Parts: sequence; structure tokens; C-alpha cells
Amino acid sequence: MPVANDVLRQIASALVLCALLAPAAAAQDPPLTRIAFASCANQTKPQPIWEAVLDYRPELLIFAGDNVYGDVTSAAMAELEAAYARAATIEGYRKIREAAPVLATWDDHDFGANDGGADFPHKEAAKRLFLDFWQVPPDDPRRARAGIYHAETFGPEGMRVQVVLLDTRTFRSPLKAADQPVAPGQGPYTPEPDPAKTMLGAAQWAWLRAQLMQPADLRLIVSSVQVLAEGHGFEGWDNLPAERAKLLDLIAVTGAAGVLFLSGDRHVGALYRRPGGGYDLYEITSSGINMTWADNRDAGPRRLGAVYGAENFGTIDVDWWAGAVRLAVRSINGEAVREIAIPLAALEPR
Ligand SMILES: [Fe+2]
Repeated sequence: MPVANDVLRQIASALVLCALLAPAAAAQDPPLTRIAFASCANQTKPQPIWEAVLDYRPELLIFAGDNVYGDVTSAAMAELEAAYARAATIEGYRKIREAAPVLATWDDHDFGANDGGADFPHKEAAKRLFLDFWQVPPDDPRRARAGIYHAETFGPEGMRVQVVLLDTRTFRSPLKAADQPVAPGQGPYTPEPDPAKTMLGAAQWAWLRAQLMQPADLRLIVSSVQVLAEGHGFEGWDNLPAERAKLLDLIAVTGAAGVLFLSGDRHVGALYRRPGGGYDLYEITSSGINMTWADNRDAGPRRLGAVYGAENFGTIDVDWWAGAVRLAVRSINGEAVREIAIPLAALEPR
């Protein structure tokens, strides 16, 4: 039976090869189960919360904007350069960047202008400082195109986490100021449903559409400013409701499953939910590392529970085997002070 023996030997060799290769492949791309994110870190003030973030042992850390405070007063960019230089000396900040892979987007204060948008004249200089500080390689597409939007996918098939980092600054149209004096604790802007105004700009919208059509099991869409929250009058997608409707429509028409929004900027932590085209959409806001606002009067029509107004960071725990994701706002001690568990099946289009 020489032929049968040859076949058996070939099968045995193939099985040995598979056994050798499979663990190596898995080891290179394990599923993410513990993701942390944070925003609003003023480099001139102590940042003791990093110890709790380190204790959480994140497998990925996302900086959601206002990662330094460096509003500039001239093209020299001295304030932003100094802000990054100072941040690099903060021990906790440095340790966390060594402990886990890091992704980042920016908000207004690392863009260089409070509430700044497309008309900020120094955005190219700010972009160079951002890409250098976050050690973005020379051949990365972000260095060759406008803006800093970026996406990466982690984990094996069936357990893929796609992280989509939006740039809500480079292309954003001017916002409409409220004509009435704002109420105490309310922000200065009023929603303007003008379809000519943009949050992302045409190129980033086209890129986002392509990203949502990539295979992924969980999609963390990081927007520095809040997406689902409304009514507080500060910056957010609520300022441009036609753009928010476009975003929610895009998620529905692409059939993208597993979307969760991560945001910062507001100096409180909170959870939000809003009906989407295919399933309920959730947002976790974590802000900030050391910039907080205990009296924040978030109007909160979409909010789940109260805001948390002390130092906080956000976490996303994924239990792939139980089919559930847990969002938590965590205190300076690492305690989950606001949390919600969501079945992954609830993030699939109906
Ligand atoms: Fe901000």
C-alpha cells in the first residue's frame, strides 16, 4: 500500500505544519479584551490617574483628544511645542505609552485653537507636531493627506476590533453662535442644520464609508467631540445635526455592525444611547485625565444615568466568548463608576 502510506505521510506533515503555524499566527494577533481611552490631559497639572490606567492593564490605549493643552498665539507654534515637550516628561504619561500600543486623535487644544476648525491658519504646523509626538512613521498615509484621521484593526477573524479615529477639527465648518444669552452652565452654540456645513469634509467622509465596509466585529469610532449627546450647547455633532444624521445613515446603509462611539472634550464622564437605523447606538464619553468640571449641566436627553464630574478614564472590556462588551467610566482609583453591559448581538443590524 505505498500510495496510501504516501498520502498518510503527506497528511501527517500537513497537520504538523498546521500545528506549528497556528499558535504562531494566533500569538501575533490575539483578540483585544481590554481597551482603555482617555482625553483632556493638561500637561501643566499633576496626572495621578495614570497609575489606575496602568493597573487596568490595557491591551490598547486610545487618546481621544485634548491630549495636551497648547493653544497657540502665532505661527511659531511655541505653546504647542512646549506642551508636547512638557507632556513627554510626565512619568505616568510616559509609562502608559510604553505599556501598551497607543492610538491618538486630537481635539481643539492639541489642534492649537480653542473650539478651532477648518479656518485655523496653523493647522498644518499643528499636524506635524501631532504626528511627530505620536511617532507616526514617515511613510504613514496621514503624512501625505490632509487631516489626521486613521483606522486600524486588531484581532483574528470573528474577534476583530476596528478602531476608527475621526478628525473633527481639520475640515469642520464654523459653528453657529446662539443668539440668546446662554443659560448658566450651557455652551455658546446652537444647532445649525445647514447641509453645506461639514464636520468631516468630503475626503474623510468617503474614507469613513470605505472603513465601515471593512470586515470587523466591533468598531470603536473615536470622535473627540460628542456624537449622540445633545442640548448642552457646547461643541459636538449636535452643532451640525445634518452631519450627525449623515453619520447615523452611513452606519445603517453600510450595514456596519458593532459600532460604539468613544468621545472626550466635555470634562465629565457619561454614557449615552440613541436609536440608530439598524440598532441602538451607544456612546461612552471620558473626560478628563485632569480637566474636570464638577458643575457641568449636561442637558442629557440621551444620557444613561448621571454624569461623573471627577477625574476619569474609559474602558471597553470585550468578552468574545460570552458575546458581550462592557463600557465603563472609571474613577481615579480605577473603580467603575458608570457602566453598561451590551450583548454583541444587540449591535447587529436588525
Ligand atoms: Fe476640547
